Amino acid sequence: MTSNSIDSLLHESRRFAPSEAFSSASEASSELYTSAKEDRLEFWADKAREYVHWHKPFTETLDWSTPPFAKWFADGELNVAYNCLDRHVLAGNGDRIAIHWEGEPGDSRSITYAELTAEVKRAANAMAALGVTQGDVVAIYMPLVPEAVIAMLATVRLGAAHSVVFGGFSAESLRSRIDDASAKLVVTADGGWRKGKVFPLKAAVDAALANGESSVTNVLVVKRGDNEVEWTEGRDLWWHDQIEAAEPEHEAQAFPAENPLFVLYTSGTTGKPKGILHTSGGYLTQAAFTHKNVFDLKPETDVYWCTADVGWITGHTYVTYGPLANGATQVLYEGTPDTPNQGRWWEIIQKYGVSIFYTAPTAIRSFMKAGRQIPEQFDLSSIRVLGSVGEPINPEAWIWYRDVIGGGSAPIVDTWWQTETGAIMVSALPGLTTLKPGSAQVPIPGIKIDILGEDGTRVDPPNGGLLVVSEPWPSMLRGIWGDPERFKETYWSKFPTLDAPKYFAGDGAHVDEDGDIWLLGRVDDVMNVSGHRLSTTEIESALVSNPIVAEAAVVGAADEATGQAVVAFVILKSNQEHAQTAAEASALLRQHVAKEIGAIARPREIFIVAELPKTRSGKIMRRLLQDVAEGREIGDTTTLADTTVMQIISDKLK
Ligand code: WTA
Repeated sequence: MTSNSIDSLLHESRRFAPSEAFSSASEASSELYTSAKEDRLEFWADKAREYVHWHKPFTETLDWSTPPFAKWFADGELNVAYNCLDRHVLAGNGDRIAIHWEGEPGDSRSITYAELTAEVKRAANAMAALGVTQGDVVAIYMPLVPEAVIAMLATVRLGAAHSVVFGGFSAESLRSRIDDASAKLVVTADGGWRKGKVFPLKAAVDAALANGESSVTNVLVVKRGDNEVEWTEGRDLWWHDQIEAAEPEHEAQAFPAENPLFVLYTSGTTGKPKGILHTSGGYLTQAAFTHKNVFDLKPETDVYWCTADVGWITGHTYVTYGPLANGATQVLYEGTPDTPNQGRWWEIIQKYGVSIFYTAPTAIRSFMKAGRQIPEQFDLSSIRVLGSVGEPINPEAWIWYRDVIGGGSAPIVDTWWQTETGAIMVSALPGLTTLKPGSAQVPIPGIKIDILGEDGTRVDPPNGGLLVVSEPWPSMLRGIWGDPERFKETYWSKFPTLDAPKYFAGDGAHVDEDGDIWLLGRVDDVMNVSGHRLSTTEIESALVSNPIVAEAAVVGAADEATGQAVVAFVILKSNQEHAQTAAEASALLRQHVAKEIGAIARPREIFIVAELPKTRSGKIMRRLLQDVAEGREIGDTTTLADTTVMQIISDKLK
């Protein structure tokens, strides 16, 4: 579990009830909870009809006859891109801004729903001309530019599925994702801006495709800058050439509700990332419903900004699908918060009058550190709702966020969910819930959450336990790409009640007397670094893939700025021990991990050690290494095969 113990979460005891004014204008009413309680399935069927346009209406809400494989609204048909685009234009909202895009160097572009629809239609025609069709997978490896969203929507408009790979992942990571899903097309850019520099995405695609046969037949390249790129004739095509040549008209076909929408890779407890599969109708229903009610969205007047990259689930659900399905106006920003200056985000909020702002605690903590005098230079009075996601938000950051960014009055919704859940599962609703800093609070209407002990019985407050989702939900993952066994084993085998298995989320949690949920961090080998999921075993595999390494163990150590940080303990091969200093070896290996997985996985520290603490059965005791990494007294070592090992490690590190 992370360092967020219950104690440290509890010392803020103030409660924040919604203001009269906010409540009376709230999108959500308490009727949502009552109707969901009365008939959960009917509630979701209603929401599916309210939030989604169906080309063919569904007659069955849920098929849970072969758990854990669920089908929602299965006989219905829809086109997800049509829902995000055409229907708003047809409803007379074509002139509404869909995206205010801001490039890192300050270039900008505002795109209406009519323009976005037109571009997606051309892009869909261009992709269709390259052979993309239902059943195919398109890999998207892009900076945060409008074309990233356009490529996602064009793909799904054709009934194909996308696999967005975060631009910060390495060529190796990209290749394994391309291979796993047999992607046919890659959409990338000639670069993207990050911290004042252009990062070379196309070069990474070239490197990824350099070795051996691949499933990829074409690479579409968006011209973001004027960057030099290598060109493979016959394979590589400029996006703008293809778009210009494409037909402008494209009629959206209807696809079944369970047609795959996307696969998104995320870290699990084993070395290999899992391709989480989401489908269309249920996903879109919960994405749109939660986006509207959790953020109290008023599409005619709000300007919404979620700072996530589309390479993560938050960017899928709360940049692309939720906001666009709801016809919202949103901001999309390419760069980092501190480039070219530390006030960049606040300047953007002021420029566009952002009213709903959704970001991660790690960003808030880094702004706290830089000081309130920076945001105070900007007019942030347009803000009326704040959101937090990715990790528990410590009460100190919560209060700062509300006071400094939210003008002392904006409600904060702390939203708990996962790549697998597809959409928000636990959160306050800002016009209804009395807010409790540090707690994610209550399941959203229609979601059933329980906290169970190891034996599967419900734990009573104030005891902690494991968070499970007890009933299937519309935006639930439908599987792990190509691996149904791993899907069952990972999520459904912990509490396998025969007819109704429960979804095991991998998070520890506790419920208080009021029924509010407090998240306590992961209970498995998944780390949470700056709100990004990383697997200890995946980084260990990357380390041992280097020829100088004999053995490696990785732990997530508490870190004030990033929540957790990657700390590695490495045993070098015996012929390497004198080949370089420990500092050299550790620098080389940090770089190696960045190359294998991506810069986000680069360990904060690598300790070169002679031994690792193991049990008699040979299992590495990461708990003890975590004690060392966090500078704590070392815990119980009696189960170690060699009880002196920890002494040797900690002496050496001192
Ligand atoms: C953690 C991100 C506490 C949790 C949407 C979960 C949170 C993992 C919160 C999923 C929150 C996410 N409070 N912990 N509000 N939100 N988490 O798949 O451990 O990148 O299991 O999805 O992040 O990370 P993922």
